[in-house]
Amino acid sequence: MPDPTPEPAPNRDPDPVAVSPTDAEQVEAAVAEALSAVAAAGDLDELTAAARAHGGDRSPLSLANREIGALPGPAKAEAGRRMGQARRDVAEAVAERRAVLEAERDAAVLVTEAQDLTQPTSRRPRGARHPLGLLVEEVEDFFTGLGWTVLEGPEVEAEWFNFDALNFGPDHPARQMQDTFFVDPPEDGLVLRTHTSPVQARALLDHGAPLYVAVPGRVFRTDELDATHTPVFTQVEGLAVDEHLTMANLRGVLDAMAVAVLGEGTTTRLRPAFFPFTEPSAEMDVRCPVCAGTGEVAPGAARGAGAGAPSAAEEDASTRTEDPAGEGVPCRTCGSTGWIEWGGCGMVNPHVLRAAGVDPERYSGFAFGMGIERTLMFRNGVEDMRDMVEGDVRFSRQFGTEV
Ligand code: PHE
Repeated sequence: MPDPTPEPAPNRDPDPVAVSPTDAEQVEAAVAEALSAVAAAGDLDELTAAARAHGGDRSPLSLANREIGALPGPAKAEAGRRMGQARRDVAEAVAERRAVLEAERDAAVLVTEAQDLTQPTSRRPRGARHPLGLLVEEVEDFFTGLGWTVLEGPEVEAEWFNFDALNFGPDHPARQMQDTFFVDPPEDGLVLRTHTSPVQARALLDHGAPLYVAVPGRVFRTDELDATHTPVFTQVEGLAVDEHLTMANLRGVLDAMAVAVLGEGTTTRLRPAFFPFTEPSAEMDVRCPVCAGTGEVAPGAARGAGAGAPSAAEEDASTRTEDPAGEGVPCRTCGSTGWIEWGGCGMVNPHVLRAAGVDPERYSGFAFGMGIERTLMFRNGVEDMRDMVEGDVRFSRQFGTEV
């Protein structure tokens, strides 16, 4: 252990050397010492220290000055002049040195803090949120507002959850290699989920009924990437299980979601369909947000909102084209039908409820699933799905989502 007692510090503040006001030599020596200390000060701090040591209250000259009053008459006057001169000389030297040091400091600041206004600014392009992520957040916000819970499930999923729990028979064609990515080794029974519906069974097993959940997520199918297909895409699943739920509740939620995502005046319609995990099942169509269901748009506006334009959802439905004079052109977004397929839905099949441990005698439920990429395509006029997966920031920026 080193000795903790500090070394005795040198005495930095010795008692001032006594100077007599009547001794001209002593006074001159003190002044000379003061002037050389002032001249030696290399910066303003050192100058302040020198000024205090040689001109401050406890400096030799100040102490000598105090003794003048006690001197007899003539000596007093002479000593007074001497001391006055001495102290003025020191004060002047300090002031001159201060002016020099301040000028030096100011010149140095000009150099060290200089800004070169001719330097080019950073040209690095700024990023932007991807519109798919933003749309998912919009949908999540809608369901959170209804009091539903947002849940996620695994992308690598047990075949049992992806198919069996959802009432797909062992020979259902959707299981075949041409639709599903199987994970090696096949006997492990793992797939890349082909839809978000397996989270229905997971959520019911984890939380039981009643249950209201929205499940966004990536899903995978063995499609080639082209203008309207991508092997990786995004769905949002909705599932409500409670007593006394009917298709009227499903329809009400879908209509409210359509308004939230696509704008005021948007509505849905249901067409009969089949899914193993819902009964009855339906395809949900949404009234075309570009032509507001009329099948026609004004000439020159044949496609949905393009780059930089407000999305159809942001436009007031009343400003959309209605063309009583019949001068509109066919709406390409919906193929003039006035409706766009948005996803599948239906009442949860009792087999699914039972597989997830819920009593179908007491509870009923509805579910739906819709594609986010598709939604972005018809809502914002994105014509090629490949633009969404390439990650080009120019695409993201078109949607005004710069962060
Ligand atoms: N999972 C279905 C699909 O991917 C959609 C769907 C969800 C249908 C929920 C009915 C109920 O196409």
